[in-house]
Amino acid sequence: MSKALRSVKGTRDLLPPQTAVWNAVEEIARRVFTSYGYGEIRTPVLESTDLFVRGVGESTDIVGKEMYTFADRKGRSLSLRPEATAAIGRAFVEHNLQELPLPVRLYCIGPFFRYERPQKGRYRQFFQIDAELLGDPGPHSDVEVILMLLRFLRELGLERLVVLINTVGDEASRLAYRAALVSYLEPYKDQLGEDSRRRLESNPLRILDSKAPAERQLLEGAPNLHDHLSPESREHFEQVLALLERFEVELEVAPQLVRGLDYYTRTVFEIVSQGLGSQDAIVGAGRYDRLIGDLGGPPTEAIGFAIGQDRLIDVLPESFRAAATASSPAMLIPIGDQAQVEGLALAERLRQAGIVVIAELSGRSVRSALKQANRRGARHAILLGEDEIARGEVTFRDLESGEQLALSTDDLVQRLKEST
Ligand code: HAM
Repeated sequence: MSKALRSVKGTRDLLPPQTAVWNAVEEIARRVFTSYGYGEIRTPVLESTDLFVRGVGESTDIVGKEMYTFADRKGRSLSLRPEATAAIGRAFVEHNLQELPLPVRLYCIGPFFRYERPQKGRYRQFFQIDAELLGDPGPHSDVEVILMLLRFLRELGLERLVVLINTVGDEASRLAYRAALVSYLEPYKDQLGEDSRRRLESNPLRILDSKAPAERQLLEGAPNLHDHLSPESREHFEQVLALLERFEVELEVAPQLVRGLDYYTRTVFEIVSQGLGSQDAIVGAGRYDRLIGDLGGPPTEAIGFAIGQDRLIDVLPESFRAAATASSPAMLIPIGDQAQVEGLALAERLRQAGIVVIAELSGRSVRSALKQANRRGARHAILLGEDEIARGEVTFRDLESGEQLALSTDDLVQRLKEST
């Protein structure tokens, strides 16, 4: 026997009934987002590497260490998309979406790829549910995006999730803060780890993300980004906070939250769930007022979020999972050769009427077919033998109560419709 192949490390198959949970989540996302005026965008899984280098940032972990990058047959450098925002930005510019009434509201659901160390809630192929609002600079956009996110999460039965929120300021604030942070850290350079030493030059704000205990201690005395905010950035943030308070959103201002992608400006936020065991975020989000311009488009302020769907599914309440996977099909069991074809025809008729029917196709005995019906969680069995066919009837059996009766096919349709 040849050796069986397995899925690639960090990727996985999603099988029924689990896929029913995934579909239920996606259906709710589509419905909720549509109710805010969002339309779906599907961008390619492959993009030119340059998009993410320019969009997400060369010095980020995502681009520097985690991208699946390869040369195609003509030597062009391509990458599997590690996130959606840069790709949506590219599409916005490519299709001149700034000519549409602004803001443009788009959402995207699909697979993304990062070469990370796989563990619970961390995969190399993972899924995001992403939403972006492009073409509005004001605080009301931030608020609408957060309210939509929370509405979606509430509809899934997730109630007590805290939004960690911060501002990283605009370009001017960031430059001022960057200088202050570098001059604070410079004298301690020798105490920094290799990554942070490198970041001191390339991307000092990312040092704030460090998990190393020695560095965390050092950072306690570091200058505060909030002391370097431009008046406009400060006002924007204060307005966002005040508005969210009005909507009774549970917030925690997290001054150290900077996020690992370079395009962020002003508002950034995350949702972290304790339920995941680790402190991994379920949602990563923020404003990116310069990205569209950096990608060659007109200056266009924007904000959005991405939900990690794999992680979201891990923290769903059991009741949601149970409702999404509950199925009680009817099992159609033909008895004898003639009934096989009649059985297929009857099953077609029932499906036409909107009834879920699994047809027994293999001609196994009624006893073993009924066993199968139980294993499949069927509520009803429809037995069709030659006698029944001759009378234009079926034998209908309720598998829970054991009740059994003869029904005309019209009555059968009626009865099954009533019980679903
Ligand atoms: P991100 O924080 O890099 O942000 O990713 C968003 C979410 O994707 C994370 O919070 C996490 O739930 C999920 N995620 C990321 N990597 C993995 C992985 N290896 N396995 C499982 N889940 C993962 C972004 O991607 C930004 N584009 C978000 C955004 C949209 N900002 C503005 N608009």
